[in-house]
Amino acid sequence: MQTVPQTPAITPISGPSRTIETDIVIIPVFEDDVLADEPDLDAASGGEIAAARARGEFTGKAFELFVTPVSGWSAPRVALVGAGALKEFSSDRLRRIAITGSLAARQRRFARFALVHRPGSAVDARDAAQVLAEGAVLASFEGATLKTTEHSSTAIEKVQLRVDGDKATVEHGLEHGRVLAQYTNLARGLSNEPSNDLTPQLFAQRAHRIAIEAGLAVEIFDESKIAELKMGLLLGVARGSQEPPRVVVLRYEPDSITTGPVLGLVGKGITFDTGGISIKPADRMDRMKEDMSGGAAVLCAMAAIARLGAPVRCVGVIPLAENMPGGRAYKPGDVLVSAEGKTVEVLNTDAEGRLVLGDALWYARQLGVTHLVDVATLTGACVVALGKAATGLFGTPDAWRDHVQRASERAGERTWPMPLFDDYKELLKSQIADVSNTGGRAGGAITGALFIQEFSGGLPWVHMDVAGTAWAEEAKPYQAKGATGVAVRTLAELALGAQEWAKA
Ligand code: BES
Ligand code: MN
Ligand code: ZN
Repeated sequence: MQTVPQTPAITPISGPSRTIETDIVIIPVFEDDVLADEPDLDAASGGEIAAARARGEFTGKAFELFVTPVSGWSAPRVALVGAGALKEFSSDRLRRIAITGSLAARQRRFARFALVHRPGSAVDARDAAQVLAEGAVLASFEGATLKTTEHSSTAIEKVQLRVDGDKATVEHGLEHGRVLAQYTNLARGLSNEPSNDLTPQLFAQRAHRIAIEAGLAVEIFDESKIAELKMGLLLGVARGSQEPPRVVVLRYEPDSITTGPVLGLVGKGITFDTGGISIKPADRMDRMKEDMSGGAAVLCAMAAIARLGAPVRCVGVIPLAENMPGGRAYKPGDVLVSAEGKTVEVLNTDAEGRLVLGDALWYARQLGVTHLVDVATLTGACVVALGKAATGLFGTPDAWRDHVQRASERAGERTWPMPLFDDYKELLKSQIADVSNTGGRAGGAITGALFIQEFSGGLPWVHMDVAGTAWAEEAKPYQAKGATGVAVRTLAELALGAQEWAKA
């Protein structure tokens, strides 16, 4: 049984790049960069670097790659990774450079490499160590664990980070980045897992182990406890499946923190979404194994929060179910009663995520949370609105949504604010119940968010629609194809930076 994936050994080093003992040294290079701090590099390459520059083979454009042998250095090879314009440089750019270089090293079957932070750049030593470690660990992710034969690239064994700066500061940043990426990789592994291997029960078992290992308190609710709590929305969604629903409840409550806010994180855990009776087309339905990515993000963020000792109490709630058609499945036109007592007319059984989240948000509130964030692969409409480059961010008040957006910027996970104008609420009116679960095609991501808001109890609340960002359709130099583990780092950064929003 997979729990937390191992990370490669990562050590900070100092001293000239020429003396690093490794298989390949990875160096970011800007546009118009004369590499003044690596004065012997071009000569070591036998003039290959200057020649590649002159021909335009390597220009320093972001994520360009140029690999050359070097002589007279301790390492046999150097990889230059384009860093773009110096004035655009940021910790996120450096993170992506680190992933690009690390993936390239793996593809060339080098198990050991070094990442160099160019001295004097705009990114300080702590942040540099963090994002370089993050990049190396993210690149170490193995997605094809079920293949019994071919392996397309080597496992990373040893990474050295050359970051000049105070040793303790560098080590602190490194550890922070290592843990964030390790738990991001854990979430990626869970999202990748086929639904026959990861049912609600098995997800809950896995969550139990991961939580205990990280030092979280954990409770699992089975179908009878869920019925006792009258979670009619979750039970409704689960009815069509042979697999019973579960709820995972995680708590991070260190003895040293007894006052202040309590952050409530809620993640959609649909282990497979067929659409139910409102069944989805066959084309690409396989992708719906990732419909528990929000739940995986909450689980893994909670574990990272505990590992890194965030300064705020946190609660995680993950409602788990499989959305299937079947003789006992819930049907369009059915009315479900939520744990809170609100009645919901189901117009489309494929709008199941908002239903399970409704009961889970209510439960988080019973535990005394003061601020809510939910994460869900909620709507295709959000993918239409924002494409695959940004997570849709909804919520109130604006200040709380802005805090989440800033955390996502620190995490290198792009988010973009979306409106929740009252006008859209009309679309969710039901003739016979308090609310209906769909508002039609127009503004589909917004009406999905507004439905969830009904269950936020007026607390500061943010909804992250990760339908477009949980899965990378194409490989990029800095992003392997497949599950991304999106929101793990945003949620963890939000908790780690709690002093920004936790004013008394
Ligand atoms: N899990 C899907 C949303 C989704 C779509 C995630 C594509 C990832 C990629 C969700 O449960 C769903 O089916 N949403 C419906 C809502 C509609 C019926 C109101 C949708 O987007 O079509
Ligand atoms: Mn659905
Ligand atoms: Zn779904």
